[in-house]
Amino acid sequence: MAGDGSVKLIDEKTGKRTDGRKFNELRPTKIEVGVLNNADGSALIYMGNNKILAAVYGPRELHPKHLALPDRALVQCYYRMSTFSVAERKSPAPSRREREISKVISDALNSVILTKDFPRTTIDIYIQVLQADGGTRCASLTAACTALADAGIPMRGIISGVAAGLVNDTVVLDLHDIEDQKGSGDIPIGYSATLDEISLLQLDGVFTIEQFEEAVKLAIEGAKQIYEIQKEALREKYAQIRAEFAGEPEEEEAEEEDTMEIVSQSLAESEASVDETAIDEAVASEETEEKKTGEKTTIEIEEVSEVEEVSEVEEVSEVEEVSEVETDEHQDLVSDIAEELNEELDEDEKELEKELNSLGTEKPEENDDTTTTNTTESEDDETEHEEINDLEE
Ligand code: CDP
Repeated sequence: MAGDGSVKLIDEKTGKRTDGRKFNELRPTKIEVGVLNNADGSALIYMGNNKILAAVYGPRELHPKHLALPDRALVQCYYRMSTFSVAERKSPAPSRREREISKVISDALNSVILTKDFPRTTIDIYIQVLQADGGTRCASLTAACTALADAGIPMRGIISGVAAGLVNDTVVLDLHDIEDQKGSGDIPIGYSATLDEISLLQLDGVFTIEQFEEAVKLAIEGAKQIYEIQKEALREKYAQIRAEFAGEPEEEEAEEEDTMEIVSQSLAESEASVDETAIDEAVASEETEEKKTGEKTTIEIEEVSEVEEVSEVEEVSEVEEVSEVETDEHQDLVSDIAEELNEELDEDEKELEKELNSLGTEKPEENDDTTTTNTTESEDDETEHEEINDLEE
């Protein structure tokens, strides 16, 4: 609400305002993008002492469904001031002012969002004023549009919000709370620098035409500066993402190369240990065995060379020492059994020979049978041929 303008808010000598700014200066402004993980897009704006958070969800299904627009998306904006955002506790119930600001921001954003791309859906924008210090609707509009861009919602342009007002008959840019309360009036605007288009314009107080034109011109200049801050904030976030994406494959490749190197090194080491140490020790152990037993078994060395660890090699050589004694005993037993079997086989062979000889005397009879059958078969064939020849004739 504009005051009567009687309170001195501009120093006559220096021309500076109560916070030290010149008439055409913005408050220090900073925007952070992508501050909320659960939102599709988000932005946090610091504009002087204003701290405002905007979160965008959608395009998403609309509830209740009867509110859905058949040809475009519904843009719903919820501007809320936190109870702790102002010096005097604000009521948590949504006020008429909050509903009004929600509507004007929603209308402004509707003019740039390509709503026809998303029929029957809703794009929800939640604005929470954490700290208020005048000009919150403009800062909220800036934050909301930046959050929409962060959400990847297609838009014709980016809107930047800022107010210009009348303080001690001077047109000034970006009024803070005292100027807003005690000044003669303010004109909040929403302006798209790329489209050169005003999407929000309100007026509170009394302005001459010259003052109005000057105020709008000043606000547009301020909006252009804010647009640069929005762009920078969006660039910063996406530069980080790009760097992350660009960096990942290189890191992965480097990691893969490292692991491959480690694996190949360890393989080479293990091969070397198997080839050299294991075999050398195996051969050495064999040589010692040789000295003890005076025998050298090539099979044993082959078996040992396949064993990788030296401890295993030692175990194997121990086992073989024991098995050698056992095999000598077994060999004696096996040769005894073989001799017995051979004797039995010889006897069997002799018996078989006798049987064969006895059978050899009966062979002619068998041959007679076969010849008779053969003759009868040949006779049958002849008769068959005769019958066929008769039929053919
Ligand atoms: O914030 P903006 O200038 O866009 O809207 P306004 O209605 O002119 O509000 C002016 C300022 O009054 C706000 O920015 C707040 O700092 C302050 N205010 C307050 O102290 N308590 C309220 N319940 C509402 C507004």
